[in-house]
Amino acid sequence: SLFPVILAGGKGERFWPLSRKDRPKQFLSLDGSSRSLLQATADRLLPLADGWDSLWVITSSQIAGGVRQQLPELPSPNLLIEVEGRDTAAAVAWTSLEIKKRYGEDAIIGFFPADHWIADQKAFTDTLKAATQLATSTKAIVTLGIKPAFPSTGYGYIEQGEKIGSFNELPAYHVNRFTEKPNRELAETFLSTGRFSWNSGMFVFRAGVVLEELYTHAPEIIKPLEQYGPDIYPELPKKSIDYALMEKTNLAYVLPVDFGWDDLGDWNAIERLLKKEETPNVELATHIGLDTQGAIVYASNPDDVIVTIGLEDVVIVRDRNVTLIVNKERTQEIKQVLKILQDDP
Ligand code: GDD
Ligand code: MG
Repeated sequence: SLFPVILAGGKGERFWPLSRKDRPKQFLSLDGSSRSLLQATADRLLPLADGWDSLWVITSSQIAGGVRQQLPELPSPNLLIEVEGRDTAAAVAWTSLEIKKRYGEDAIIGFFPADHWIADQKAFTDTLKAATQLATSTKAIVTLGIKPAFPSTGYGYIEQGEKIGSFNELPAYHVNRFTEKPNRELAETFLSTGRFSWNSGMFVFRAGVVLEELYTHAPEIIKPLEQYGPDIYPELPKKSIDYALMEKTNLAYVLPVDFGWDDLGDWNAIERLLKKEETPNVELATHIGLDTQGAIVYASNPDDVIVTIGLEDVVIVRDRNVTLIVNKERTQEIKQVLKILQDDP
């Protein structure tokens, strides 16, 4: 069986002002359902685990209280709290050390971002069973490859190599190359070959295998952690697992997946989830739009009325004391605004 770990330490800044310091994205429901992204992730993973005792969450100290509230069934030793986020390489290293300590080096661990949308639960479960079998029978760092839809510069790219067999009736391939967040030109080249998939950001491996690989490729993270424990956290380099390990390891494998996936990265994801053919805009607010197309309009307060005239492709968000109006193509830059604002208003 699998020990699923939810990576829940991100800030979700590109969803500001809905996502705030005290209420990050993973605590929100973005599709109108009653479960938050974090809760939906736990719901999705529980059928793969041996109940709540096998599920883990790693997050930052600022939001650990919120995680406890949202997942009251999570046993407290399974909640790892980072004094300060050091990105995902440190999170993977620390959790893997803890799980190995408790269950030994053959424990199969899966890492899952807290902010994904997945359409088909059964296909998801089948794929994760395949990944678990592959990681059990081979020294493998298993990735799940998503069919790329456009030359995104926000994802990792996986080049598929030779087929190595089938697991739970799904084909698995060796990974020839992993490139995190390429520039536009390189992303276009990757797409044109037809051999690349997007990295889903989910990983499955044996505790002993990932730790060995971290010793080889990221000793600056794993060695201090093992020697001094999590007290050393603030001194660890800030690096994602994609740069620290995936671009370097030779043990990466990929299972092409087809379960309907979206990384709910920024406001445009709302449009991909909720846009209907027949309506010109996506409206989560009382919106009166004259000659307005391609807008995403959100208001937390149902009494607010938003009026637009002659606009195209904008995102408008009203939440508490903030109104954000941004060109749809520039939602990535919200991060920069937050740097200027310093104190989240
Ligand atoms: N505990 C913890 N601590 N979690 C973190 C930290 C941290 O310091 N930083 C990020 N996370 C969590 C986020 O909450 C998210 O759930 C997950 O780790 C991934 O982090 P992102 O910051 O969202 O990564 P990304 O979207 O830029 O890139 C990753 O995901 C893409 C797919 O969504 C990479 O794996 C890409 O290769 C991949 O394509
Ligand atoms: Mg992400």
